[in-house]
Parts: sequence; C-alpha cells; structure tokens
Amino acid sequence: MAPMNDLLLTRTENRVAIVTLNRPDVLNALSVELMDRLIEAMEGFDRDPSIRVMVLTGGDKVFAAGADIADMAQASVVDMMQRNNLARWLRIKAIRKPIIAAVSGYCLGGGCELAMHCDIIIAAESAKFGQPEINIGVMPGAGGTQRLTRAIGKFKAMEVILNGRFLSAQEAFDAGLVTRVVTKEQCLAEAVRLAEQIAQRPPVALQLAKEAVLAADEMSLSAGLEYERKLFYSLFSTDDQKEGMKAFLEKRKATFQGR
Ligand code: HXC
Repeated sequence: MAPMNDLLLTRTENRVAIVTLNRPDVLNALSVELMDRLIEAMEGFDRDPSIRVMVLTGGDKVFAAGADIADMAQASVVDMMQRNNLARWLRIKAIRKPIIAAVSGYCLGGGCELAMHCDIIIAAESAKFGQPEINIGVMPGAGGTQRLTRAIGKFKAMEVILNGRFLSAQEAFDAGLVTRVVTKEQCLAEAVRLAEQIAQRPPVALQLAKEAVLAADEMSLSAGLEYERKLFYSLFSTDDQKEGMKAFLEKRKATFQGR
C-alpha cells in the first residue's frame, strides 16, 4: 500500500488501473516530481498486460489546478528551455491504452491539458474547465491551444484562452469537451464502470482504434481513411478477431486474450 501522503496513488481492479493525483494542499498542482511519477506509472501500466484501461482522477474538489506556479515563477526562458519539462508530455500522448479522466472541481491550465490527453472525460457537475494561464502572464503550453480548439472550436476556445473564463461541466459537455456529466458522488465510479466495460473489449483492437481516432487530428481525411483501412486489415492477424467473429456466429460471448 502506498502511504497516504504519496504524491500519486495507484490501485488496480478488474484489469483497470486507477491513478489518483494526490497533492490536495496545492490543488494537485502538477510539479515536476508529480509529473515524473505520473508518467512513470502510466507507462508501467501501458506495458502491463494485466491492465487494459486506465482511469486518471484527482480529488472531489479538484482534478488539477495546473502546473506548479511556484516551480516556474522565477524561471528564465533559458531555464524553461533547459528543463524542457513540457517535452515529457509527449510520453503521455504515446500511451496506447485507453485513458478515462474522472474530473471533479477545478480542471485548469496544465490540469485541463492533462484531461485532454485522456481519451474520455467523465465530469462531475462541480467540474470547472479552464486555461487561465493568461492571468499569470503566459498562455497554455501543454497543448491547450491545439486540443481545446479541436474539441470545442475556435470561437469558444478563444474566449476560454484569451479571457481565462472557466467552463462549467454542462458548458464543457455542450461544447464537446466532456463525454458525460454525472454527480460528484458518481464521477469516479462511473469512470471505473466505463473502464471495466472497455476492459472487456479486445485489447489490440482497442489500441489500434485509439490510434486511428487520434490520427484524425493529424491527418487529412484521405490519409486517415487509408490509415484506418490498414489498421482494420491488420486486426485479421489477431486471435481475438477470429474469436470475436466465431463467438458472434455461435451466439456466445467472446473471450478476448489480447493476442
Ligand atoms: C501552485 C497552487 C496552484 C498552482 C493553487 N495553488 N493552484 N500552487 N500552482 N497551479 C495553491 C495556492 O497557492 C494555495 O496554497 C492552495 O493551492 C489553495 O489555493 P487557493 O488559491 O487558496 O484556493 P481557491 O481560493 O479556492 O482558488 C482556487 C483556484 C486558484 C481558482 C483554482 O488556486 C487558482 O487560480 N489557481 C491557479 C490556477 C492557474 O493559474 N492555473 C494555471 C497554472 S499555469 P496556500 O499555500 O496559499 O494554501 C499552467 C501552465 C501549463 O498550468 C503549462 C503546461 C504544464
């Protein structure tokens, strides 16, 4: 068991890894150390064949209020470039298994960018999404200008980023940033329930499907369609494809092995 004052708590159940940000005194500010721990934990679960889906969450009051401002306040541009902490976020982008964010309370700055690195966002009614970096003299740096714009469109993203306005859970849902809004009490349980359902699907197909959906942000339509077709064909080399189609024809539930 991890000590309760650990920066990051992890547990696993039913092939789902639940990863909890745990710096409540500073609203889960994403310090360098916390980000290191998070990335290492996620990469470990990504390699672990007994885990099929991850859930990332914070506390009831906060998902994460952004990068740790105290870490950056006195930094020069050279310090920031030498530390190059943001480059590590590419390692989160490279996680192949599905990640579900369970977001309650503040989800701001780097916290919102972290949620947007996930594949599905379950939000409590209390969730508040925002990119308030403008209020401290900077702008989003871990993908906010790109991913928020793709999620909610230019004109809504501009207001959030240029004026630091927070979106309520319902506004974020209406705008397309959030998959589902539930009560605070249900938020983590709903994310875990969904993760457990997805964990029953064939893991190789899950990973390729995630890859194809993410490719939609990077590719032209015709290149994306071609890429999708190749990934689709490649799944015919898996045992899970044979099992899935056979089980359908035999009118029974398929058992997927991730092979
Ligand atoms: C360091 C933080 C913090 C942060 C909160 N705290 N957010 N410390 N970095 N991002 C600390 C406060 O200093 C305070 O510490 C304690 O957490 C509680 O916060 P309060 O401000 O007292 O709480 P409250 O009045 O409820 O206000 C909540 C809040 C506010 C609206 C979320 O804390 C806030 O505006 N936080 C900063 C949000 C932000 O600007 N995020 C973007 C960061 S830049 P003490 O010691 O006083 O109790 C960023 C860049 C991303 O994310 C680049 C890529 C990673």
